[in-house]
Amino acid sequence: MRILAVSDLHFQEQHFAWVAQQAPHFDLVIVAGDLLDLFAFGRTSIDTQVRDVTSFLTDIRLNCNALAVCSGNHDLWATRDLRWLHLPPSRNPQEEKLGGTFIGDGGSAIVPGTRLLVTCCPWAAESDEDTQRLATLLEHGNALRNSGTDAWLWVCHEPPHLSRTGRTTEKVEGSPLISQLVLKYQPDFVFCGHVHGAPFDGGLPFDQIVDTWCFNPGCPDRRKQLPEPPSIILDLAAGQAVWRWGSMEKRAFVESPIALAAYASAA
Ligand SMILES: [Fe+2]
Repeated sequence: MRILAVSDLHFQEQHFAWVAQQAPHFDLVIVAGDLLDLFAFGRTSIDTQVRDVTSFLTDIRLNCNALAVCSGNHDLWATRDLRWLHLPPSRNPQEEKLGGTFIGDGGSAIVPGTRLLVTCCPWAAESDEDTQRLATLLEHGNALRNSGTDAWLWVCHEPPHLSRTGRTTEKVEGSPLISQLVLKYQPDFVFCGHVHGAPFDGGLPFDQIVDTWCFNPGCPDRRKQLPEPPSIILDLAAGQAVWRWGSMEKRAFVESPIALAAYASAA
């Protein structure tokens, strides 16, 4: 099973197009928040960004088995109402044009053809009500996890502060709340974004908190942008994660229940 993850695309049209082009080669495509760019509204209005990003996501979904998307702070702060980020919820045989399964904010679903459960968390809690909603979502996901899945993956814009995916040389920017929740539920994988510099500047694109692997593709300085965004490919059967941006590459061996099952069946 192969996963492609990007984050913080910040309304870079060519990067959404690159993801749509890559999507057919993966079982799951992850976009881990900050699809809009709050600071680009002088150039492109938020309404136009929302319209175009919805269309970009539809293109990605048409080309993939499953697409998981969570909101980021830019998405919430720019619109305050995140309903636009919810594509129709699942594959409908009557409408093949919908493409693969879509998992959005507040959703938990199994990736078709696998036993991987994915839960998408809305942008980190900004009120007690948000915190309670997140707790309820994860409690529900945990119950699903214990009903015959091989692994549990979260998509959550803000990284846990205990992992180096939430740090740069200058400061710790990750979330204590997400760290607490990771320690409580110990999901197998958490895909994040938000801390743009983590893979480039003193942090890491992948790191572990106990047995949970955390990932953050990062977002480079605009002036250094390439046609493709930084990305992480996680091959669960091979147990390998590769982070790439241009000529830069980092690799990690990622143990997981799915990797161990693949080794056992090959032995
Ligand atoms: Fe961002």
